[in-house]
Amino acid sequence: MVIINATDYTDMSRKAANLVAAQIVIKPACVLGLATGSSPEGMYAQLVARHQAGDLDFSHVTTVNLDEYRGLAPSHEQSYRYFMDHHLFHHVNIDPARTFLPNGLAADPAECCRAYDALLATLGPIDLQVLGIGGNGHIGFNEPGTAFEPKTHCVDLADTTIEANQRFFERREDVPRQAYTMGIQPILQARKIVLLASGSGKAQALRDALYDKVTPAVPASVLQLHSDVTVIADTAARALL
Ligand code: GLP
Repeated sequence: MVIINATDYTDMSRKAANLVAAQIVIKPACVLGLATGSSPEGMYAQLVARHQAGDLDFSHVTTVNLDEYRGLAPSHEQSYRYFMDHHLFHHVNIDPARTFLPNGLAADPAECCRAYDALLATLGPIDLQVLGIGGNGHIGFNEPGTAFEPKTHCVDLADTTIEANQRFFERREDVPRQAYTMGIQPILQARKIVLLASGSGKAQALRDALYDKVTPAVPASVLQLHSDVTVIADTAARALL
């Protein structure tokens, strides 16, 4: 595991964009595993700027996102599809048909999960997986629990996650109670993982994930078992390391 020290959010975003851009340059037809949330937002802005400057070509890239809220349409401003469209996909030359997220409107949750796992199997190992980390140590929407869930599944969001994500919605009642998330298996099978952490709210989770025991109670701790993890964390997030 490599820990890259970033001074602040902007520095973290720039350094993360460097790694993603390098991946695309080295392997133009790569599969990127992508995350949503505040952590990667600045990184996407950097990638868009590089594309617009003529330095980054997304035309052969495939993306597969970690998660999506159950019940939100792609047009809903808080859906992860909407987030990805507006922060990245609509601003670069990626083929929209090669951008994948779980279908938040699927009628049958079990079928939705099966379809996503089938897709992941078809795409093969993710070349570079970008991750944020929840304040409770979650990755994607793999919430703290008693076992690591290997496959895509529909989760009941933890109260702390609903609270944390409430800032994006008008009212707490508007935050979806369930979400689809990629399981731990495709994350661990990714060739390279880049974990982003910014702010003091992530300090404890980051310490527990990187330096404490591997346990499903802290889902991100499973990353200790991966051989190529780069953590890019700013000063506040590194406070307890
Ligand atoms: C969210 C997402 C995760 C994200 C994490 C941290 O609920 N499902 O994929 O990494 O929680 O979010 P943020 O980066 O906004 O702090």
